[in-house]
Amino acid sequence: MKLWGGRFVEGSSKILEEFNASINFDKRMYAEDIEGSIAHSKMLAKQGIISSEEQRAMKDGLLEIKEEIEAENFVFHIEDEDIHMAIEKRLIEKIGQIGGKLHTARSRNDQVAVDIRMYLKKEGTLIKKLLEELMGSILNKSIENKEVIMPGYTHLQRAQPISAAHHFMAYFQMFKRDYERLEQSIERMDELPLGAGALAGTTYNIDREFVAKELGFEKVTENSIDTVSDRDFIIEMNFVISMISMHLSRFCEEIVVWSTTEFSFVEMADTYSTGSSIMPQKKNPDVAELIRGKTGRIYGNLVGIMTVMKGLPLAYNKDTQEDKEGIFDSIDTIKISLVIFKEMFETMKINADRMYENLEGGFINATDVADYLAKKGVPFREAHRIVGEIVVYCEVNKRKISELKLGEFKEFDEAFGEDIHKKISLESCVWERNSYGGTGRKALEVQMNNGKKYLEKI
Ligand code: ARG
Repeated sequence: MKLWGGRFVEGSSKILEEFNASINFDKRMYAEDIEGSIAHSKMLAKQGIISSEEQRAMKDGLLEIKEEIEAENFVFHIEDEDIHMAIEKRLIEKIGQIGGKLHTARSRNDQVAVDIRMYLKKEGTLIKKLLEELMGSILNKSIENKEVIMPGYTHLQRAQPISAAHHFMAYFQMFKRDYERLEQSIERMDELPLGAGALAGTTYNIDREFVAKELGFEKVTENSIDTVSDRDFIIEMNFVISMISMHLSRFCEEIVVWSTTEFSFVEMADTYSTGSSIMPQKKNPDVAELIRGKTGRIYGNLVGIMTVMKGLPLAYNKDTQEDKEGIFDSIDTIKISLVIFKEMFETMKINADRMYENLEGGFINATDVADYLAKKGVPFREAHRIVGEIVVYCEVNKRKISELKLGEFKEFDEAFGEDIHKKISLESCVWERNSYGGTGRKALEVQMNNGKKYLEKI
C-alpha cells in the first residue's frame, strides 16, 4: 500500500511506477532528507504538536535508517517513488504508527525543496574548494613561469609578446569570478523552504525560524507558493557550473593547440595523455578534449531545466521532478573536471624555448615601434602607417624589424634615434608594459600578489 494510497481503489500500473519514480536518482539526497526530518520532528515536539517521546523514537529510527543506507542494507523499492517516501515508510515499519506523525505540517513539496537546497549548498561549497585549489595551482605555475615570454594572440595571430604568467593569470581572474558567482548563488539559496506545506502554509503553530537554525539556513522563505515552485537556485547553480566549464574549456582548447607538434608550447605528462590504437607515435590530449566536450553536456543540463520551468503554472508541478538529474550530472561532471584539469595542468611542461622562438618573425614588436615614434611626437595614426610600411619593407627584403640599421629606420622617419633597438627588444616590449593589469614586470608582480592575497583571504 502506498503512503498516499487511501483514496485509490486500484493499485498503480507497473509502468507508471517506473515512470513516476525518482528514487533511483534522488536517493543521493538521503542524508539531507533525514537531517531535514529530524529538524522538523524537533520543531514539532518543541511546539507541542507531538510528544518528546515520539520525537525521540522518530529521531532514533531516522538515524538507524541512515546507518542502513550507508551500510548498503537499505532496499530501495521503485514502488516507494522517491527518497522521501522510502524513508518515511521505513520509519513507520521500524517504529510503528508514531512514524506516521512525522509528516504533520509538512508536504513532500516543501520537503523536496529543502533537501535539494541543502544538497546544493553542500556540493556548491565543495566546488568552491576545488576552484580555490585550481586558482592556487594557476598562481604557482605563474610564479614559476614569470620570466617566460610567449606570443600573445588576437585572432590567433601573433599580436604582442607577453609573459606566460600573465596568460595563466587571465584564467585566475575567470575562476575568481566563478568562485564569487558560486558564493552568491549559495547565499541566495540559503533560505528554508520547510513550512511552506503543499503550497499555502499550514494551520499548525510551527516555528520555521527554529528549523532554519537547526538546518543551518540563514533565513526562511517569504512566500509559500513561490517556495514550492521555485527552482531558480538550481538554474543558477547550473549556470555557474556552465560558466566554470566554459572557462575550463577555453583553457583546454589552448592546451590542445599548444600541445600540437606545430606549436609545441607545452608537453603533457604521460599520465594525463592517451595513445592511439593504430598510430604508434600518438600522444593525445584526451583529458583536455574531454573537459571541452563535457561542457556541451553541462550546457545541455542548463537548457534542460530552463525549458522544464518555462511553462509551469504555480505552484508545484511534477515536471519539477525533472530538476535533479541534470544538476546532479553537472555537479559530478564539474567536480571531476576540476580535479583532473588541475592535475593535468600541474604536470604539463612549459616549453619556454619554443615559446620564445615563436616570437621571431610575425613582427610582434611592431606596436612598440609605432609607440616609439608616437612618444617622439609623431601622431600615433601616422606612426602606425609608417610602421606598416616598415613591415612591408621587411617582408619584401626578408628582414626582421630589429635587424634594420638606424639609417634604414631613418629613411622611414627622422624621429628614429640610437635607442630604437633597445626599445623594441622583446624584453622591453614585455617587461615595460606596466600599466595596471599589464604584462610588465611590475604590473605582473602586483597582479600575482593580489592573487595571493585573494587566496589567503577566501
Ligand atoms: N519526487 C518529487 C519531486 O522530486 C517529490 C515531490 C512530490 N510531490 C508531489 N506532490 N507529488 O519533485
